[in-house]
Amino acid sequence: MSFYTLLTGASTGIGKALATDFARRGSNLILVARSREKLEALAGELTRSHGVDVRLFCQDLEQKEAASKVFGYCQEQGLAIDCLVNCAGFSVAGCFERMAEEDIVRMVMVNMVAVASLTHLFLPPMLVRRRGTVINIASLAGFQGVPGMAHYSGTKAYVVGLTEALSGELRDTGIRIFAVCPGFIDNDLFYSRAGHQKSRIVVPVSSVDVVVRAVRRGLRGRGILVLPTLFDRLMVFSQRFVPRKMVIGMAGFFAGAMEKRE
Ligand SMILES: NC(=O)c1ccc[n+]([C@@H]2O[C@H](COP(=O)([O-])OP(=O)(O)OC[C@H]3O[C@@H](n4cnc5c(N)ncnc54)[C@H](OP(=O)(O)O)[C@@H]3O)[C@@H](O)[C@H]2O)c1
Repeated sequence: MSFYTLLTGASTGIGKALATDFARRGSNLILVARSREKLEALAGELTRSHGVDVRLFCQDLEQKEAASKVFGYCQEQGLAIDCLVNCAGFSVAGCFERMAEEDIVRMVMVNMVAVASLTHLFLPPMLVRRRGTVINIASLAGFQGVPGMAHYSGTKAYVVGLTEALSGELRDTGIRIFAVCPGFIDNDLFYSRAGHQKSRIVVPVSSVDVVVRAVRRGLRGRGILVLPTLFDRLMVFSQRFVPRKMVIGMAGFFAGAMEKRE
């Protein structure tokens, strides 16, 4: 039986870089996102360069039945998934009350429901085979509320909590789950979609490669939450010694995502 890595959010940014890295290491892939052309171009390139089998499934993860459709496709095609990478996600910057009502639900669907539902569907076959890995791309924003990114940080806190709890449930099953929690990553598309001015971020912005390396480190190690850089680790560690109000104020200042109210 051939195994596949299923990667959501594979069309651009971090997901695309992860797809390239997994292909380079010989994994067959199923790429999921909405942008067909980008997925087709990437699939062609990865098959040509690395000789792996790359399938694509175009799916809007905001849709209620999205995860079942992805799972149904894999079943129909007889594709066994031994690695699920939940990477699709987006942010919206600014004051919470100015967020479009529909963005609240859209973000819950993509950043939370799709992660939970895909994991829920793909876990049982992994448990039967006693083989599998789930990798969730969370964020440093999941460790504290970030003013200007309130809803986004809430969705990523959910991913952190879900991953931690499942790592406990999955002990001794042969299945691993971990979350990679990057700080700011240099990806203009992510910021333009969020309406977040990158120039206002006052902390180091890392390259996408930093996340790829963190995923590899996660795969080699046994950790549950992988913080890609020393700065990320310092940020989380220092929270133990700083009053919560100050942690939140600093997070908001560092992100520069909050706009002034008149
Ligand atoms: N960039 C950062 O600073 C940063 C930091 C920490 C964590 N992260 C997390 O890393 C992940 C990837 O972010 P990125 O920087 O690579 O951003 P990106 O370049 O905007 O990529 C987002 C990916 O998610 C997919 N996606 C978005 N909405 C979707 C939907 N409704 N249905 C299906 N797919 C959807 C996009 O594909 P289509 O548009 O083709 O559908 C794209 O492939 C996200 O979970 C993000 O929260 C990013």
